[in-house]
Amino acid sequence: MVGAGAVGATCAQVLAARDYADVVLVDIKEGLPQGKALDINQMGAVLGYEPNVVGSNGYEESAESDVVVITAGVPRTGDMSRDDLVSINEKIVVQVVEAAAVQSPEAILIVVSNPLDAMCHVAKSVSGWPKERVFGMAGILDTARFSTFIAWETGASVKDVTAMVLGGHGDQMVPVVSATTVGGVPVRKLASEDAIQAMVERTAKGGGELVKLLGTSAWYAPGAAAAQMVDAIMLDEKRMLPCTAYLEGEYGIEGLYMGVPVKLGRGGIEEVVELELSEDEQTMLNESADAVREVVGVLTT
Ligand code: APR
Repeated sequence: MVGAGAVGATCAQVLAARDYADVVLVDIKEGLPQGKALDINQMGAVLGYEPNVVGSNGYEESAESDVVVITAGVPRTGDMSRDDLVSINEKIVVQVVEAAAVQSPEAILIVVSNPLDAMCHVAKSVSGWPKERVFGMAGILDTARFSTFIAWETGASVKDVTAMVLGGHGDQMVPVVSATTVGGVPVRKLASEDAIQAMVERTAKGGGELVKLLGTSAWYAPGAAAAQMVDAIMLDEKRMLPCTAYLEGEYGIEGLYMGVPVKLGRGGIEEVVELELSEDEQTMLNESADAVREVVGVLTT
């Protein structure tokens, strides 16, 4: 886990509690990764898990990692959009991916730092690794937000909601209503069009809502979402999850990282799944791709 801040430490804790893998927390701040690792180990004595969690300011301890999760960077504050972070986080992501890749050349890289889609491009070009092994976490989080609102609106268990959010991890993300169900029942049968549109909008601006409340970006759901991707890879679960994947023609999009459903297993992204989208949804996806392209265009990597 590179970055032992709010998201990185949450992800580490969720993973440690799953009890199948050791975790190394790496951060530039002295004492922070060591302190959080110690605290997470001691939490294991209460909750009953015992993987070894190690904190470090270097990468040696992380050598031969199976999965590297990049959460290093600056989070949003105030009125910042994710895209405002681009130049600061680009430099950080270049540096941490280079260092992590030297120690763990066979790893699978999950990027969480924002602006997510652009940072995936940085990670891919710095590592030179194939697209199957470099991808990002956004869709699970965006989908979790959409699912939460749907459960509240319909009064159904969130466990029965299967939602789908595609596109870039920005305000132009595309919640796919046609592929969203509650216990197999299309959401359009259970909620009014107005209510659905309000939930779509709240989902797209979901990160901003949290920044307004917290003064910084969220960490519980993002950390857990990244941990779910690690689970899918480490346990070779073949989960069908929305992730930020490098597209080469899928959905009519070429050479761009975007959120799409993929099959995640020990090989990383084992398949990009193409959904049939309505005309409106495809138009929104194209607009989202344009927004991602604009941010990618300002990268220097
Ligand atoms: N190497 C290692 N760690 C670094 C580096 C670096 N070069 N630069 C920054 N960090 C660390 C910081 O020291 C900090 O502990 O990254 C951590 C980021 O943690 P937080 O500031 O708590 O931010 P967090 O909320 O975890 O968000 C991290 O994830 O969701 C995204 O937008 C969010 O880009 C942000 C990232």
